[in-house]
Amino acid sequence: MPNYLVVSTSGNPDSNSRRMGQAAFNWLKKAKLNCEWLDISKLDLPVCDADACYNHPAAKNITAAIERADGIIVATPVYNYDVSAAAKNMVELTGSAWEDKVVGFLCAAGGMGSYMSVMSFANSLMLDFRCLIIPRFVYATGDSFNGDKLAGTKLAKRIEQVAAELVRVTKGVRGK
Ligand SMILES: Cc1cc2nc3c(=O)[nH]c(=O)nc-3n(C[C@H](O)[C@H](O)[C@H](O)COP(=O)(O)O)c2cc1C
Repeated sequence: MPNYLVVSTSGNPDSNSRRMGQAAFNWLKKAKLNCEWLDISKLDLPVCDADACYNHPAAKNITAAIERADGIIVATPVYNYDVSAAAKNMVELTGSAWEDKVVGFLCAAGGMGSYMSVMSFANSLMLDFRCLIIPRFVYATGDSFNGDKLAGTKLAKRIEQVAAELVRVTKGVRGK
């Protein structure tokens, strides 16, 4: 059975993308799939220096978690029309661990205008590591949240669609 990983890449303790990632993780667990959760704000990851960082225990742990996974959901804030620097640092630290993974995105943003912000990150995963990117992202602004909850059912349904699509494509690629 394929393994799944949901990784939250926001440092904000009040993060909306983390809430979206948790909703996806809960859906995957409820479907009785093998799924891990990682919150990189809790991992004490080093900044990539292309040298000693690769031997840092936290970098080794996240590399192993990515290697174990067949399908990965990246939950990310949109910062400066891109994913978070923490998401980028994660890929710099873990590099080829991403090879041939199926990857989906859940993005939290401040406004509607940054909806293509994840594309350069997605392109680098496709072209560097031959990841298969799920061509359905969830992109949500603050209006979709009510305090620490997802507001209404629309956002939850969209997150479930991406999680279900990740599972469908991963099973197609890796087998049941
Ligand atoms: C440094 C910084 C840069 C941001 N840049 C953008 C941006 O380019 N486009 C946008 O829509 N929102 C932008 N925002 C708003 C965040 O995307 C928004 O607060 C979102 O909820 C962050 O995700 P999080 O709640 O998971 O941390 C920015 C916020 C910060 C702190």
